[in-house]
Amino acid sequence: MALLSVKNLNITYKNKEKEVYAVDDISFDMESGDSLGIVGESGSGKSTLAMGILRLLSPKTAQISGNAFFKENDLLAMSKDEFNKLRWKQISVVFQKSMNTLSPIHKIGDQLEDIYKVHEPKATKEQIKSRVLELFKLVNLSDRVYNLYPHELSGGMLQRTSIALSLLHNPELIVLDEATTALDVVTQGQILSEIKKLEKTINMTRIMITHDMSVVATVCDKVAVMYAGRLVEFGWVKDVIAKPQHPYTQGLIKSYPLMKAPKDELKSIPGSLPNLSNRYEGCIFAPRCDRAQDICKTSRPKNTEIKPGHMVSCHFAEVK
Ligand SMILES: Nc1ncnc2c1ncn2[C@@H]1O[C@H](COP(=O)(O)OP(=O)(O)OP(=O)(O)O)[C@@H](O)[C@H]1O
Ligand SMILES: [Mg+2]
Repeated sequence: MALLSVKNLNITYKNKEKEVYAVDDISFDMESGDSLGIVGESGSGKSTLAMGILRLLSPKTAQISGNAFFKENDLLAMSKDEFNKLRWKQISVVFQKSMNTLSPIHKIGDQLEDIYKVHEPKATKEQIKSRVLELFKLVNLSDRVYNLYPHELSGGMLQRTSIALSLLHNPELIVLDEATTALDVVTQGQILSEIKKLEKTINMTRIMITHDMSVVATVCDKVAVMYAGRLVEFGWVKDVIAKPQHPYTQGLIKSYPLMKAPKDELKSIPGSLPNLSNRYEGCIFAPRCDRAQDICKTSRPKNTEIKPGHMVSCHFAEVK
């Protein structure tokens, strides 16, 4: 049984003047222990997808349809109270600017204690403090942060505090949305390798949204490639990065100063994302695709499983 199963998820932002189709019929499964990287250029709907699944979008502005089963319970259909029982304890999330989660008027340690107590009301002060300090060590924060206020911390320290907070209860699923992007490379590397170690001990499942394909290549097992609200390729990192099948994934990989490619071979993908307020009948990548044929302009490609676990949404995907 999948730990997380997203089925036909659609998310449309509704403003007075227009609608934005930010997530368009996305389905994928994650098994327990998976680490999934979600990549795609800016504006492709990565954060919207995560926020939708985590019930963080206001129904006033975003209309959601489809399902997101977490161990068979649909996160999108449960009551807010039921969802809050899972939040932090079983599912946690860290955003790039997650410092807003912290209150400016309370000390960091006190805030972490309060959050811990929501799910473990009987825990003693000493137990909580030792747990928090253990996590501080994990994310490379000094013990003195416990007695500081958020304004006394740098942006990077706040970000590391948020990561520690998300790990308080050893969640089964953690979502990191550009959570380590703003950190220096050394700290980012340390935190990611610690999280990877932790995953093995507590069997944590991770979704990691990032612009950085090399991060996906090093710390994720699976990758989901999004383009203009659609999922265009999904599979094992070793398959998708070594042999990308969708023309967009191929372009994306070539445009990164990844691994072996000599600098003069780096290319960017010509053109830009389409306007997400329009509906597109065909393949949404067709206008930028150098292999597009007539069918691509008129018919939406199906998700083809070209080999077990490797899905490509392209009319010309070849089953292996
Ligand atoms: N509150 C909102 N109202 C209307 N449109 C929105 C809203 N939030 C996001 N969008 C639009 O939805 C689309 C997807 O945005 P989203 O933030 O999910 O992209 P992203 O892939 O996370 O980008 P980035 O890599 O820059 O973080 C974009 O076209 C964006 O302009
Ligand atoms: Mg985003």
